[in-house]
Amino acid sequence: MKNEMWSGRFSGASDELLKEFNASLNVDKTLFNEDIQGSIAHATMLESCGILKKEELDAIIKGLEQVKSEIEQGKFVFDIKDEDIHMAIEKRLSEIIGSEIGGRLHTARSRNDQVATDFKLFVKKSHIELLKLLKELIQTMLEHAKVHKKTIMPSFTHLQHAQPVSFSFYILAYAFMLMRDIKRLQNSLELADFSPLGSCACAGTSYATNRELSAEILEFKDIMPNAMDGVSDRDFALDLLYDIAVIFTHTSRLCEEMILFSSSEFSFITISDSFSTGSSIMPQKKNPDVCELIRGKTGRVYGNLISLLTIMKALPLAYNKDMQEDKEGLFDSVKTAKDSLIILNAMLKEIQINKENMLNACKKGHLLATDLADYLVREKNIPFRKAHFIVGNVVAQAEAQGIDISEIKDLSKIDPVFDEKAMELLNFEFSLNSKQSEGSSSIASVEKQIQILEGFIQNL
Ligand code: ARG
Repeated sequence: MKNEMWSGRFSGASDELLKEFNASLNVDKTLFNEDIQGSIAHATMLESCGILKKEELDAIIKGLEQVKSEIEQGKFVFDIKDEDIHMAIEKRLSEIIGSEIGGRLHTARSRNDQVATDFKLFVKKSHIELLKLLKELIQTMLEHAKVHKKTIMPSFTHLQHAQPVSFSFYILAYAFMLMRDIKRLQNSLELADFSPLGSCACAGTSYATNRELSAEILEFKDIMPNAMDGVSDRDFALDLLYDIAVIFTHTSRLCEEMILFSSSEFSFITISDSFSTGSSIMPQKKNPDVCELIRGKTGRVYGNLISLLTIMKALPLAYNKDMQEDKEGLFDSVKTAKDSLIILNAMLKEIQINKENMLNACKKGHLLATDLADYLVREKNIPFRKAHFIVGNVVAQAEAQGIDISEIKDLSKIDPVFDEKAMELLNFEFSLNSKQSEGSSSIASVEKQIQILEGFIQNL
């Protein structure tokens, strides 16, 4: 039986197995809204070019709107035999308005430019949604940053104590990563803002169409200038997958630190009960599952990027059915990113900062050693390498006494090069605020950083 829309040249019916294997409906039905939007723009353009009559356009738009509400209300019968969402919608349209008119919608269009357009519209929408969620997460970080300018904690290099910083300074480092994530999305959105609609199969059409018009209706900035590129390009999907992968690089680092910092070894923070889970066997357990899951989900979003890169690699022009495999991973990455950003934000809002524990941790690991060396260079005109050596000796002596250098009562007893004034240095807040370089951990610099981020967010 010849029931497929493309069955004109076929004499036999396609195998049941092939139908199932070939179908993408279960995945691409997500695009129903974009498909209807795209079809209305296309039909409107056809009518304005005299290719469709006004009554035909009206019937098509009315029919498409009915299809949309049937899908929204769950009344639409999805049948895998229709292959994909594009065919399913067109078939239903013809059932509603008759194939004499319904069959005219696909004039001067192919499924190749249709699917590229729908997918691009979805990608553009996802950019906007992610941008908003990133902005909200930055706002939460800024709230913490404003409160904790004087909350002192150790910073780490090699996961060993390095120098004292404030919790504000620490959390702002993440806010700046997210600012770049937003800029990255904005850049990708700009590159994606060209309409492939009207490229047709791969070579354009013999109809005098107006691609600018359909692009304008769909709110694209411009059209893709080459039809073959128009149907073959999936850079816009790769860009979004990469942007999401980088977001997860950042959030997985933050989550890893939240896991560490909430452990009893650190106890820097407490994650609220509403975002922690228990153990089925150990009654005392409170686990940071949200952070672990976000860290774990990083694997699937990296995988989705690699998967599409591999699908597109060495693919001959123009459309190939391989490209039908482009959507599932992207839909998954977008959903994973949206869900993760929402819950991370909610969790972060409620996180408790344990100031005492953070400060106590600063008293281990000789965090003030660099300040002492800088002091010798600045006040005593000693070359930095020599100062480094002198302070190394102070550290060794403190270690021998089993104390931290911040607990030394009289520095001059260890080395006469230190005078009274040097004792001022053995104070964590003093250390923080003695930083003078741009971008440092001093309160003044942190305030400037907050301003930069607030200005950025306001202009979004
Ligand atoms: N379902 C297909 C996809 O997602 C639509 C394009 C089909 N084009 C074709 N020439 N068979 O890629």
